[in-house]
Amino acid sequence: MKNVSVVSFARNIRPLFRDEYINYVKPMNILLDQYTYMSNAANNHQNAKRVYDSLTGKTKPRMPIDRPYWTKDELDLFKNWMNGGYKP
Ligand code: HEM
Repeated sequence: MKNVSVVSFARNIRPLFRDEYINYVKPMNILLDQYTYMSNAANNHQNAKRVYDSLTGKTKPRMPIDRPYWTKDELDLFKNWMNGGYKP
């Protein structure tokens, strides 16, 4: 796990999403680059959780479909961002 005390969306999470992925899922109304979408508290933060579950493969198909899948460090960082309170 990366040694980051407070995980920031802009600094740590947003750069993990390549532009082609952002553009690919945008038509499905999944807004990976938008903090307001990703941190939306509605339904127990379901936007971020749905993204996380698709990245881990908990929901199929595992994302990104064309691979490579995120590394454990990257997945942990996303998880820590959620656990840390979805900081901007
Ligand atoms: C980091 C990158 C990506 C993330 C976080 C992501 C996330 C997601 C999420 C959250 C869903 C909705 C799943 C659901 O609610 O059931 C989804 C669906 C989908 N994504 Fe991705 N995606 C990524 C990249 C890609 C790429 C690169 C492709 C294709 C090359 C792709 C193809 C699809 C397709 C086809 C679906 C619809 C699957 C279905 O309905 O069965 N995604 N994605």
